[in-house]
Amino acid sequence: MAGRIALVTGGTRGIGLAIAHALRAQGASVAVVYNANEAAAQKCRDEGFLAVKFDVGDFAQCQAAVREVETRLGGIDILVNNAGITRDATLHKMTPEAWNDVIRVDLTGAFNMTRQVIEGMRSRGFGRVINIASINGQKGQFGQTNYAAAKAGLIGFTKSLAQEGARAGVTANAIAPGYIATDMVAAVPPAVLDKIKSEIPVARLGQPEEIARCAAFLASDDAGFITGATFAINGGQYLLG
Ligand code: CAA
Repeated sequence: MAGRIALVTGGTRGIGLAIAHALRAQGASVAVVYNANEAAAQKCRDEGFLAVKFDVGDFAQCQAAVREVETRLGGIDILVNNAGITRDATLHKMTPEAWNDVIRVDLTGAFNMTRQVIEGMRSRGFGRVINIASINGQKGQFGQTNYAAAKAGLIGFTKSLAQEGARAGVTANAIAPGYIATDMVAAVPPAVLDKIKSEIPVARLGQPEEIARCAAFLASDDAGFITGATFAINGGQYLLG
């Protein structure tokens, strides 16, 4: 992966940060995108990552920021659409804002970012797009009609992009993590989380590095025949054919 340029959204914390580290360990130059947490961004800068702040839900901001990253690092070869938010509520209590915020960031964000890099990937004959979906986009989750819809949407986006990119050397894959030890999962009410943990056969939360190792492999030159796939990494919590 030496010489490749990678961009990871939501890359200053949690799964995104672990992916940024894993890609760098394989020789890529990595930029990370963040939206608000300055302390986490500064830590990334201290570790030598290029950290850029913008809202992946805003197309114009994505366009400007990706241009800036490409000017500084070069054309982006590897895009990891990891940025995501939750606004959990049952549908009968969900506000339009809670619906729209999640769709805008978690689903439209992937369009906004991929659209900026896809032409360059196609013209260079190489690209890796990795979309971080969720177990809850596969099985649904009480309280997450918005998030599950966005994450299921990412899987359809991935399969379609895979077909379009195949002949141009651009692969697109999704990873569907289960419950991983991140700030997002730590925000789940303790009683709800205890019940979820009891449903995970390996009997623990996943670690961000366990997602990152898969992402780094999918990003590598060795993974050129893998495209349009969704990798369930969930400790056995949800098994599908
Ligand atoms: N299945 C069936 N019934 C459930 C249920 C479930 N999973 N969870 C709650 N209920 C029931 C409750 O027992 C309660 O019933 P009673 O009124 O009969 O007692 C009723 O539904 C209402 O539940 P709440 O009081 O919890 O309702 P609320 O409006 O206060 O909260 C909620 C609802 C916000 C969805 C809350 O349950 C919650 O936060 N759940 C967590 C959802 C979740 O797992 N989010 C994942 C975040 S992490 C992530 O998304 C990362 C990833 O990709 C995996």
